[in-house]
Amino acid sequence: MTSFKPVRKAVFPVAGLGTRFLPATKSVPKEMLTIVDKPVIQHAVDEARAAGIEHFVFVTGRNKAVIEDHFDIQVELEQTLRERNKTDALELLAASLPPAGQTSFTRQQSPLGLGHAVWCARNIIGNEPFALLLPDMVMRDKKGCMSSMVELYNKTGGNIIATEEVAWEETHKYGVVETGKEVAGGFEISGMVEKPPQGTAPSNLFINGRYILQPEIFDILSGHETGAGGEIQITDAMLKLAKEQPFYGFRFTGRTFDCGSKEGFIKANVAFAMWQSDLAEDLRPELEELLKEKPPF
Ligand code: G1P
Repeated sequence: MTSFKPVRKAVFPVAGLGTRFLPATKSVPKEMLTIVDKPVIQHAVDEARAAGIEHFVFVTGRNKAVIEDHFDIQVELEQTLRERNKTDALELLAASLPPAGQTSFTRQQSPLGLGHAVWCARNIIGNEPFALLLPDMVMRDKKGCMSSMVELYNKTGGNIIATEEVAWEETHKYGVVETGKEVAGGFEISGMVEKPPQGTAPSNLFINGRYILQPEIFDILSGHETGAGGEIQITDAMLKLAKEQPFYGFRFTGRTFDCGSKEGFIKANVAFAMWQSDLAEDLRPELEELLKEKPPF
């Protein structure tokens, strides 16, 4: 059996301003907004941990220090919980914390695009494959999208992009892949395009924000070439890398919420609450009632 360099590190780009959520995001990073009781960023970190990731690299920006605090112990809080014998809460906090020495934080100093944010992590990643998770995309299925991707990677090596079907009219909002030959657990990618104009998408499989990439991507990103929207795009760099290395697509069939939009974020909150049995029972009749009500103003 062929073996490939394992995927040990993951990059989380968290430098975005979150202007769509103002005023909530004036002093709170959008990644710290919660889906029920768990910050958006924690969902992505948990998914990566479940996939065997050992080192968590956050590309942050100004006003994001609270993300670093979130992934640290909170001495006074934990002391108080211990004194009050709140073992459940203590266990919950412990489970959400990556081990000491396994997080890194670096800053994207200018908002030049997703490709640039990823490039900012180059020295921490070094010469090994890495996972890239866009925290805005909150996912749920039995296994975890990144776990399935690592499984595929262990068979194929190369680069892997997770994709999902989307309505054709929505393809212009995302990166879209062109599908080649089927392989066990996925397909070869024969092309990709970032935000194709309406009617030009090569498929309706969009790039859903989960990637496994080889470190040569950094050499390409070092060129700082701009693409769609005048930004340095990861999709353009991947397209170049695909000329030299294999790229495979993984079809994710779980549920994804685009929490970069208010609709997606609210939908995620309702869905995750309804998937939690202790909340669902009371919530269901209340939601049904609410849908019938007229606004009280
Ligand atoms: C980024 C990627 C795009 C991908 C999307 C998923 O776009 O560039 O290829 O489909 O994330 O959310 P952005 O949302 O930053 O515009």
